[in-house]
Amino acid sequence: MDIDTSRRDFLTLLSLGLAFPGVPASFAGSPSSINADLTARVGAQRLDPELPLDTEVWGFNGQVPGPMLRVPQGEELVVRFRNELEQGSAVHWHGIRIDNAMDGVVGLTQPSVMPGEDFEYRFKVPDAGTYWYHAHQNSSEQVGRGLYGVLLVEESEPPEVDQDVTLALDDWRLDDTGAIHPSFTNLHDISHAGRMGNWLTVNGKGSESVTVRPGERVRLRLLNTANSLVMPLRLPDWNHWIMALDGMPLNTPTPTTDDLVLGPGQRIDIIVDVPPDPAEGEFIAFADRGGVIPLVDFPVVADTAVTPRLDAPMALTPNPVTLPGKLPDQSTNLEMRGGARGDLDAANYQGEMMSIRELVKHGKAWALNGVVDRTSEPLLTAPRGSTQEIVFHNRTAWPHAMHLHGYHFLVQDPDLPGAGQVLRDTVMVYPRESVAVKFVADNPGSWLVHCHMLEHQSGGMVTWIEVT
Ligand code: C2O
Ligand code: CU
Repeated sequence: MDIDTSRRDFLTLLSLGLAFPGVPASFAGSPSSINADLTARVGAQRLDPELPLDTEVWGFNGQVPGPMLRVPQGEELVVRFRNELEQGSAVHWHGIRIDNAMDGVVGLTQPSVMPGEDFEYRFKVPDAGTYWYHAHQNSSEQVGRGLYGVLLVEESEPPEVDQDVTLALDDWRLDDTGAIHPSFTNLHDISHAGRMGNWLTVNGKGSESVTVRPGERVRLRLLNTANSLVMPLRLPDWNHWIMALDGMPLNTPTPTTDDLVLGPGQRIDIIVDVPPDPAEGEFIAFADRGGVIPLVDFPVVADTAVTPRLDAPMALTPNPVTLPGKLPDQSTNLEMRGGARGDLDAANYQGEMMSIRELVKHGKAWALNGVVDRTSEPLLTAPRGSTQEIVFHNRTAWPHAMHLHGYHFLVQDPDLPGAGQVLRDTVMVYPRESVAVKFVADNPGSWLVHCHMLEHQSGGMVTWIEVT
């Protein structure tokens, strides 16, 4: 079959992510910093050709995802953030071990950036990998309406692949016209599994196509940017290896044939080898008991081939994270309680003991160690350089995606047989499960700990730690 060259070039561009909507971060000013402008504003986007109308979104520069930022490891990123929404906002750089003042948590690390105001984020990116940025005020609604984007920190020696493809997966609750359903932070979502949508997107559209050549090696970076949906994902029936979780390389690329689970906020880097004689019709799908929904397909350009690699990919270079030793200096239990079918009778909210009936009147349904929301007292105070352990105990009927700002913690990954201890910034904690995470508290400041199911966060599942 003869394929028109211009179309093929376009497809290649598309699959390389170069046709990704938006402007790349550009070199400007000092040679060692990357500059970008991000304006939070209303935009219009056709989330799927099947929808009758464009959807009004809130996006960085009016688009979803926002501009993809690419920064070489170790460089400084300077972002001029401007808020053109009708409510305050701020930008959090999820997974970046960042200077605390740049972490974007309103009321903890910075004041809210009010409508019409600017804020300059300026920070170094110490670790290579797949990260993202998102609004961090009224997060359920702001992220739910589209305020997020991808931040790639480039390795100085990237793995040898033919394509590097970013796939940001999202879940939307839309009405029949394609409009975003305004039912944010309703009590049902808060007290159950969070805001579940009815429309999945990849890179802000209904599906994505990654054109491949026989024999190619392709890096796939998957991100779950949904408010609350845990995504069980089925990959093509081609050899593939898990390379990194939440940006952090695994010591050994781990081959897998199982479906993968990606919780809200989590990322996974995969390397896939397209076989020399690939069948058409392979795809990445959302695959749960309810069915299999294809999200990404892989059309094959059969008249060009690449000599397949014989060896498994080499591990990515580890990031400069100080690994905790076996015995922590301090261990803190974090009991998660509440929600529907939970056993929370009462909890402390704004300094007052309240019954669950009173709490729900305030839109609250969850408590961490008996406390609802972040208070003026941190969960723990860690001397700088100490090794800390936090043990999450899920005493609720729901899974939670627990996220620590400013750090990656070491955790045993139950979803990853054989891989043992991995570094993550967000970990799934299932009902009745306890999960211990450890980290060296070497980054001073006030750091949030919360469930990344944004309705659970809104419903009280948020606390913080202080590193002195
Ligand atoms: Cu990606 Cu506090 O979150
Ligand atoms: Cu949760």
